[in-house]
Amino acid sequence: MSRFPEWMNTNPRNPPQKWIDLYRELRRRIPEGQPAGLEISRVLSCNDYTALVVRQIVKDPAAYGLATPAHPGELPTLDRWDRDQYEQTRQAEGLQWDGTDHRVPIDELLRRRIQRFEEVDRVKSKSQDTIIDVKVNGPIAITHLGDPHLDDDGTHIGLLKHTIETIAKTPYMYAGNIGDTLNAWPEGSRLSGLYAHQATTWDEGIRLAVWLIESVPWVYTILGNHDQWGQTATILRQIMKGSQCAVITPGEARITFKFPQGEPIKIAARHNWPGGRSMWNRAHNVVKSSKLGAGGNADILIQGHTHVWACHQHEGDDGRPRTSLIVKGFKDWDSYAEDRGFYQHKHGHSCTTILDPTAGPMERVRVVWDIDEAAEMLKYLRRRR
Ligand SMILES: [Fe+2]
Repeated sequence: MSRFPEWMNTNPRNPPQKWIDLYRELRRRIPEGQPAGLEISRVLSCNDYTALVVRQIVKDPAAYGLATPAHPGELPTLDRWDRDQYEQTRQAEGLQWDGTDHRVPIDELLRRRIQRFEEVDRVKSKSQDTIIDVKVNGPIAITHLGDPHLDDDGTHIGLLKHTIETIAKTPYMYAGNIGDTLNAWPEGSRLSGLYAHQATTWDEGIRLAVWLIESVPWVYTILGNHDQWGQTATILRQIMKGSQCAVITPGEARITFKFPQGEPIKIAARHNWPGGRSMWNRAHNVVKSSKLGAGGNADILIQGHTHVWACHQHEGDDGRPRTSLIVKGFKDWDSYAEDRGFYQHKHGHSCTTILDPTAGPMERVRVVWDIDEAAEMLKYLRRRR
């Protein structure tokens, strides 16, 4: 008399469901090899006889209509309605890959993915607001540099150099970079061919970026769409390590300046605000964002990207004046705009916002487009305090 159940002799390819379940559970927990009876009874919490039968199945699963799952240790997790049909078909057609390149069990893979999401979720959920405690009394100025495109032949580099020199020598004047520090045409793309049509190489562009970054104190640096091609963003972040800059981001720099006296003033900068375009108002998207409370109801919303300039001021529902700005940037001659017949703006390369915390509401933020005027006005306002 056989010590194994009757079905093993009479109808081995159709095991009762109980044995199928036990076999699959074992394979889910021990995907490979032939475990000893003792191990089987421990893993399945079953008696010795059950372990003996299961071990017999493990020795030759195909003989009992149980082919090795294509993904050992994974498939039995969910009891698919078409399981039997699926496995019979796979068996009949010889489609039985043993999955030997699976090094990480699916449970472990899921655990890692869950952990990674929790890390990302924690970082992304953090408040976007950066607080800068200004230690000195009186007004300060932020000069917002429009798209520098340092390596482009059409960039007015002389004006950019003068702007940087003026910021560098004017006390309490800081800089903000609205993005697109370099053309950074992405390697391997159709655009990389454009390096053949500009005099500045990638390496020289990086040297110019180092010069720009190290020349002035920054409050923010936005990584524009050009900066995010290839490895440029990583390189710029590395160059900026240790430099004075409160925020570096491909998204939104939202900064609240708190002063020893007077009202805090909030600036929110993006390379490009959402909200669409309007032929009647260049600043349409920025104004719309401002009116919808973007940037945490910032006093100043600013962007670059479109290579035009615009300024709009209005009063928010809370009674605070709001300023919406677009800076043109330094790329005066743009072949893309030329090809498509866009009007190319001539002014507004940068603009300076003078933050005067103790001034009345309408003068708390002054917008000055000329860098020399801005430096003189800041000196005058600080002397007058
Ligand atoms: Fe740009």
